[in-house]
Amino acid sequence: MSSDLWLHGKVVRGAGRGRELGWPTANLELATPSLQPDEGVYAAWARVDNGDRLPAAVHVGPAPTVNRTKSIFEVHLINFPDRDLYEMEFEVQIVERIRDVEKFDSLSDLTDAIANDCQVALKLLQS
Ligand SMILES: Cc1cc2nc3c(=O)[nH]c(=O)nc-3n(C[C@H](O)[C@H](O)[C@H](O)COP(=O)(O)O)c2cc1C
Repeated sequence: MSSDLWLHGKVVRGAGRGRELGWPTANLELATPSLQPDEGVYAAWARVDNGDRLPAAVHVGPAPTVNRTKSIFEVHLINFPDRDLYEMEFEVQIVERIRDVEKFDSLSDLTDAIANDCQVALKLLQS
């Protein structure tokens, strides 16, 4: 499903749980919400404030494992030092779908799944 479409968005505050989990995410408010992809986990390229493209794992949807019902477009920058990206401008190119959003039995199962998603995303982005 790779396309040349770059989604634009600005980083808004999340609950901060991602950082606690060790997988920080930038929660985006998309400039064109109707372009938000279906719920799921995706491999993507991300550009922050017009910088170089960076490999990313994107989660779209609620987070049933932590009982979050709100649907969010979240971007985790793979192997990127954690820093405050609040209000930064993002561009995201969705490259391929990895899996559905799941409700895991524990936070450690969730973090294992995210670690795996990042490996899968890197492979997909290299090919
Ligand atoms: C690559 C990736 C995959 C994710 N997959 C799931 C999932 O399958 N189920 C789930 O409940 N949350 C999933 N999450 C979302 C995390 O639960 C969420 O980032 C974390 O709880 C922080 O949420 P917050 O920004 O609302 O604090 C995923 C996050 C990432 C970055």
